[in-house]
Amino acid sequence: MVSKSHIRSVLTTLVVCSYICSIHAQAQVPLKGLDTTVCDPATITNSPTPKKPTLAETYRLTVECNIQNKNYSTDYTEYFDYQNQRAAVHQWDEGFHAYGIYNYASNEMYTVEAQTGVCTVDPLSSSSNTFLFGFKTSAKNPKVGRMFSAYGALRFGNGTKEQYVGRTKIRGMQVDQWKSCQYWSSMDATMTVNWYFTSKFIPV
Ligand SMILES: *[C@@H]1O[C@H](CO)[C@@H](O)[C@H](O)[C@H]1NC(C)=O
Ligand SMILES: *[C@@H]1O[C@H](CO)[C@@H](O)[C@H](O)[C@H]1NC(C)=O
Repeated sequence: MVSKSHIRSVLTTLVVCSYICSIHAQAQVPLKGLDTTVCDPATITNSPTPKKPTLAETYRLTVECNIQNKNYSTDYTEYFDYQNQRAAVHQWDEGFHAYGIYNYASNEMYTVEAQTGVCTVDPLSSSSNTFLFGFKTSAKNPKVGRMFSAYGALRFGNGTKEQYVGRTKIRGMQVDQWKSCQYWSSMDATMTVNWYFTSKFIPV
């Protein structure tokens, strides 16, 4: 049965999966902390060369989450528009789909259940979904939240160490690979993150 609470909890808990696709739970206290059996940031060297790619301020990305040990999959699409301070996410989960629309100018998050057409509005500042695109306030403007930059939202090139792995081929394309090891305390999760960017200089 399609229920509002179902979809709302889907958006709240499953958006959590993010592009990393390895997490499906809020942190339980006490935290386990960094799990070095997954990876250890101390073994990652920040590579000064080659130059990391510049990220666009506006992007659309698709996410396929396959969580094998839970027999569970979800797909979603993120829309990121830094210049206009707005973002959106559309998610498929167990046959349901829903939209989350982030309006930073009015501090509102709209959740639209596609099946029932029910739309709910919540303050963005107190939403648990802001970890995706952020809600950064400043001392000067404590009530106005801003989005993360693309580097912050994608957790690439914003301070975490990223090591260049080399050139490889993904889905038939020449790509440059970087890797990082991240620990997110909000989910008590340690993860290896691999990044692949289309190579600029493809060898002939
Ligand atoms: C996932 O599916 C397999 C095969 O049907 C089953 O053995 C396993 O118990 C399932 N795991 C969970 C967490 O549901
Ligand atoms: C990278 O960005 C994310 C999101 O803005 C932030 O939570 C994290 O602390 C940043 N990492 C570093 C090392 O600055």
